[in-house]
Amino acid sequence: MAKIPQQIVEEVRERVNIVDVVSPYVQLKKQGRNLFGKCPFHEERTPSFSVNEEKQIFHCFSCGRGGNAFSFLMEVENMSFPQAVLKLAPQAGVDIDDSYLDNQANVQVDSETKALRDLYAEATKLYHHLLVNTDSGEQALTYLTARGLDESTIDAFMLGYAPEGNILYEYFQTQKVDYQLLRKSELFVEWSDGSLHDRFTNRVLFTIRDSSGHPIAFSGRKLTNDDDIPKYVNSPESPLFNKSAELFNLDLAKDTIKKQKTVILFEGFMDVIAAFQSGIVNGVASMGTSLTIEQVQQLSRLADKISITYDSDMAGQKATKRALDLIAQHSRLSAQVIHIPDNQDPDEYLRANDADAFKQVLTHNIEDPVTFNLRYLQIDRNLNNQTEFFAYISDALAVIATVEEPVIRERFLRQVANEFDLSYEALQDQIRPLLLQRQARQPSNQQRDQQQKEVTSSSQVYNNTSNVTVKRNVSRIEKAEQILFAWMLHDNDVWLQVTNYVGFSFQDVSYETLFMIAMAYREEHQQEPINDMAAFMDYVQKPELTRILASLAEVDPQLFTDREQVLAYINVINNEAPLEEKIRQLSRNIKEANQLQDQARVAQLSVAYLEALKEKQNKNTKH
Ligand code: UTP
Ligand code: MN
Repeated sequence: MAKIPQQIVEEVRERVNIVDVVSPYVQLKKQGRNLFGKCPFHEERTPSFSVNEEKQIFHCFSCGRGGNAFSFLMEVENMSFPQAVLKLAPQAGVDIDDSYLDNQANVQVDSETKALRDLYAEATKLYHHLLVNTDSGEQALTYLTARGLDESTIDAFMLGYAPEGNILYEYFQTQKVDYQLLRKSELFVEWSDGSLHDRFTNRVLFTIRDSSGHPIAFSGRKLTNDDDIPKYVNSPESPLFNKSAELFNLDLAKDTIKKQKTVILFEGFMDVIAAFQSGIVNGVASMGTSLTIEQVQQLSRLADKISITYDSDMAGQKATKRALDLIAQHSRLSAQVIHIPDNQDPDEYLRANDADAFKQVLTHNIEDPVTFNLRYLQIDRNLNNQTEFFAYISDALAVIATVEEPVIRERFLRQVANEFDLSYEALQDQIRPLLLQRQARQPSNQQRDQQQKEVTSSSQVYNNTSNVTVKRNVSRIEKAEQILFAWMLHDNDVWLQVTNYVGFSFQDVSYETLFMIAMAYREEHQQEPINDMAAFMDYVQKPELTRILASLAEVDPQLFTDREQVLAYINVINNEAPLEEKIRQLSRNIKEANQLQDQARVAQLSVAYLEALKEKQNKNTKH
């Protein structure tokens, strides 16, 4: 993928207004300098999400997220940086073609990747040929046909057969393929003498393709019911195959997923293939492992809704529970659970019934996550036993308490009341503390104002010197670091004063990192104060750091008047950290400065490091 030129990125950023970008997601109201609304990244009753139009940045007091227009879109839509720039380009009136998008087909790949892809393409062709055209593949072909797959499905999925012996290795030998490349491909098992042997033998092969359709791995299923060997043998990870990121069939399914905004998540390859053959083509499966955050995020870029259609056995139910939790935590996808009747998996159900019946199941046998959880909590519990019953009710109420809408919550409460013949009022009494707890975790307006004051009032930073606990101390340092760093970016003289202060370093790794990045940025921009925070955020890129930058906008500029305070902040930061922590911090900073090859800073920090060590030694000998 070609990189979007910096100049274009800047043009887009300068021409869009973050208020327009945020508005479709958050209802904003003017309040003082800023606009406020409810944070789109978590549940909350009172708004703690703010947009600063002048600085073109956003910041949430409650969760700490912050950044510019691009980072907002990246987070809210789960987009990559180029995707966010491309999405905003039309609003900015900037013309860019989407060849800049990270469409794998356009990616310039290195020569090793290309060679490995060719190898997998060849292997796939050979295995497919052996399956459909040769006597050796006959048993495997009969097996697949007996499982209901027709010819075109077998072709579309590039299914194959790996016979006994070493046929793939021998094939590549005739083509004189480099030994190291064969090793890296993971198509072979390496014996202790270094010799290579076909990894897959006497198995039907499911070809795993990346999202652009290149074969990158195989999963081989045994043909018999022999209990002594594993049902599936899978390719290990390789330079082409990152198990936790890939989803089986995403290449063929993605267009439909995008169109229907819905994806069906299956447990096994056969489920995906059987559904596909019956016309349900938006199905994918994770790679024989449990669902990962990466996979969830990929899907949430394409879809709004995910239907979890796992096996109805216990393993499938457990996996469903895990998937639901993961999806709720890491995406804005709405999830539903499909329940396959008769204890069958989707593939078995499709063989026993027809496509229409399966479509009926997909549209009718639906459970919402709360209903699933309420049922899941009953599994393996003896509800006739009083203790277990009360434990169930208490867990069930905890699930219901996560529902934000009072009306829906009431519906579930009534349902539980009816199911177990309990009084609705008693359940209401019992859920109340849980609801209050949840509210308490979301800061109210008042708390937010208080946070804001603490950050911006210098008296808070400097009062209260008596009775300093470590915790108190840390937050004093944090505040001093925040104010000082904001001031340094704002005022060149303060920048110079701090950088010339021998041995100064921030205690917090994030501030120290930002400090170094700011140094590089200033060098590229004629050593000007960093007033365009939104531009600097793009330069920094890392979300955990742009958050901190966003919080700097909340520092009251009135604090930047009394220059004597600079030294006071430096003293708090340098002298109030516990010695051990200071030594650890200095050593981390030296390592980072080394990595950035900033020799002057390494020398400066080393002096401070030695002094801190000496101080520690003195203390120890005094005791
Ligand atoms: P299942 O045992 O449910 O297999 O495992 P299945 O999908 O129904 O397979 P068939 O229908 O008997 O052919 C679900 C998934 O777990 C992984 C595979 O990805 C399989 O699709 N698995 C299972 C393995 O990786 N290894 C195994 O030995 C078994
Ligand atoms: Mn099955």
